[in-house]
Amino acid sequence: MSGLRIEDLAKSFGGVIAVDGVSFEVGEGEIVGLIGPNGAGKTTVFNLISGLFPPSRGRIYLADTDITSLPAHRRSLLGVGRTFQVVRTFTEMTVLENVMVPALARDHDLREAREASLEILERVGLHDQAFSSTHNLTLAQRKRLKSRGPWRPSRKCSCWTRCWPD
Ligand SMILES: Nc1ncnc2c1ncn2[C@@H]1O[C@H](COP(=O)(O)OP(=O)(O)O)[C@@H](O)[C@H]1O
Ligand SMILES: [Mg+2]
Repeated sequence: MSGLRIEDLAKSFGGVIAVDGVSFEVGEGEIVGLIGPNGAGKTTVFNLISGLFPPSRGRIYLADTDITSLPAHRRSLLGVGRTFQVVRTFTEMTVLENVMVPALARDHDLREAREASLEILERVGLHDQAFSSTHNLTLAQRKRLKSRGPWRPSRKCSCWTRCWPD
């Protein structure tokens, strides 16, 4: 069973063909880099996987389930996570609350979400900042905060955009 399978993915924006016939597979637990020059279509592939917009052609499977037509929030609940190149946090919330927001989308129990989020912060080395505002984090720390998804046990697929070096 594969973690993520992309079959003949294509996306056009008007006359611009951003992605044309991309196919690859990522096994569970595997880390795969997607490289190419600026404008090659890397971010568009990530946008298609996370469900920001639909493909012009092709299919996307997560653990053999066809997720091509699912909206982004449904994909997230199935285990698709992503980060954005420009890091944005909920600035009025603490570091812990920032991690709790997506945790609560899945686990509606506040106490469990809090415990799971504290565990994640421990793993990404931000436990000491849990009750600080994200204003106090460096860019590298904010990138680590946003990459928390991969450590969620339920995560099946996480897409980073230029997360390294940080
Ligand atoms: N939302 C969009 N609307 C129109 N054109 C887009 C959009 N997103 C990407 N493109 C175009 O698609 C091509 C691939 O872009 P992108 O996926 O951002 O490449 P990369 O991430 O590899 O640098 C570029 O020509 C870009 O201008
Ligand atoms: Mg890009």
